[in-house]
Amino acid sequence: MADLTTNLAGIRSPNPFWLASAPPTNTGYQVQRAFEAGWGGAVWKTLGDPIINTSSRFAAIHFNGQRVAGFNNIELITDRPLEVNLQEIYETKKRFPNHTLVASLMVEPKRDKWHEIVKRVEAAGVDGLELNFGCPHGMAERGMGSASGQQPDLVEAQTAWAKEAAQTPVIVKLTPNITDITATAKAAVRGGADAISLINTINSLAGVDLDTWNTIPHVGGKGAHGGYCGPAVKPIALNMVAECARNNFVYVPISGIGGIATWKDAVEFLLMGASNVQICTAAMHHGFRIVEDLIDGLTLYLEEKELESVHDLIGKSISKFSDWGDLDLNYAVVARIDTDTCIECNKCHIACEDTSHQCIERLTDAAGATYLQVREEDCVGCNLCAIVCPVEGAIEMVELPSREVPMSWNQRQAALAELGAVSELGDQDKEGL
Ligand SMILES: Cc1cc2nc3c(=O)[nH]c(=O)nc-3n(C[C@H](O)[C@H](O)[C@H](O)COP(=O)(O)O)c2cc1C
Ligand code: SF4
Ligand code: SF4
Repeated sequence: MADLTTNLAGIRSPNPFWLASAPPTNTGYQVQRAFEAGWGGAVWKTLGDPIINTSSRFAAIHFNGQRVAGFNNIELITDRPLEVNLQEIYETKKRFPNHTLVASLMVEPKRDKWHEIVKRVEAAGVDGLELNFGCPHGMAERGMGSASGQQPDLVEAQTAWAKEAAQTPVIVKLTPNITDITATAKAAVRGGADAISLINTINSLAGVDLDTWNTIPHVGGKGAHGGYCGPAVKPIALNMVAECARNNFVYVPISGIGGIATWKDAVEFLLMGASNVQICTAAMHHGFRIVEDLIDGLTLYLEEKELESVHDLIGKSISKFSDWGDLDLNYAVVARIDTDTCIECNKCHIACEDTSHQCIERLTDAAGATYLQVREEDCVGCNLCAIVCPVEGAIEMVELPSREVPMSWNQRQAALAELGAVSELGDQDKEGL
């Protein structure tokens, strides 16, 4: 059987599936049940000075029949006393010594505050620490969470303060509410982070009630922005993980978070450079038992690919992720319609006609039957028709043999610049060329 064990900056785990710091990891009771169910690790609900939470705090976007396509919350960090959490962490680690227990921390950006909490939490026996620089609401208004996580200098300084006191590996959890995620990832590395994790939630307002005109959710008629997560944020999270993974200055391991609900999602994050994954919304939606499918799916996939361990997957797609300027402008695909499977719903024709390049034709054969055909010479290979087609496999995007050598925008500009330099030379200079 394939080896599912992972190692994130020295933090070992029986499998790559951790519960993210959130409601599922709020108490010892929950984390212990999660470990019994099979989760490899858990990041405890963020510890700090306990807060008071609002009543009414979650909302979800249900999209076209899919419940919880996106999830929104205005919950803050733990509302339980630190001593209670530490006692339960101690008991949980004692009962499950081989499972991974990481404590998430958030305190004011002051050196002594970081030293104090790190020491107290490590005394409870955790395997590592995760610094929460990501929570976008409530705590941010008090100068913590994403308020400090959006400032690279504060990320660097606080990471360094935590590291001064820490004996266990320090993971820095990043906020996605920033233009360039690598700016704060690099700051965490400069501060001495052993690993980074991303993403925390994205600033959001789930909706407005059309009858009451209240925000969704609202607290007695008033709302505030929350944090968005769940399946809808997966592409954003995956991109941010990939951007960090391919950046030479972000050379620490990555824990991937954001919209992961299936083993396939997890594999995508691993391929893009994550050493493990963390999950919140999918566990809140379906319960701890989803970990069985995650483990089975990943195990079968590794066997199918004839790979011995999860490590053989990590980062395998990083080199396939680049800048737009490096893409081959001479590569071409075209759409081909399989008339045997096409049900002639006409969706592809409308899409191409109204919003793409008007190259799907409705033709009539000798027997008088209509069919659709792509005029390949005008097809730009945008994929839109295949995306809107409701029949799997009715439209295939086919690679055309390239008539020209690969040429990216960057190569093209470099070649043009060279030509320009040559044309600026005098005739005498050109003789030697
Ligand atoms: C209700 C709720 C509470 C959360 N609380 C915390 C928290 O205390 N600390 C933290 O680092 N992240 C917290 N998060 C963020 C999650 O750990 C995770 O980063 C985010 O939900 C993205 O993962 P997902 O798409 O699997 O949910 C919370 C998320 C939710 C939905
Ligand atoms: S790939 Fe784009 S351009 Fe080509 S047929 Fe489909 S919609 Fe039209
Ligand atoms: S969208 Fe698909 S099924 Fe519908 S007409 Fe086009 S190819 Fe056929």
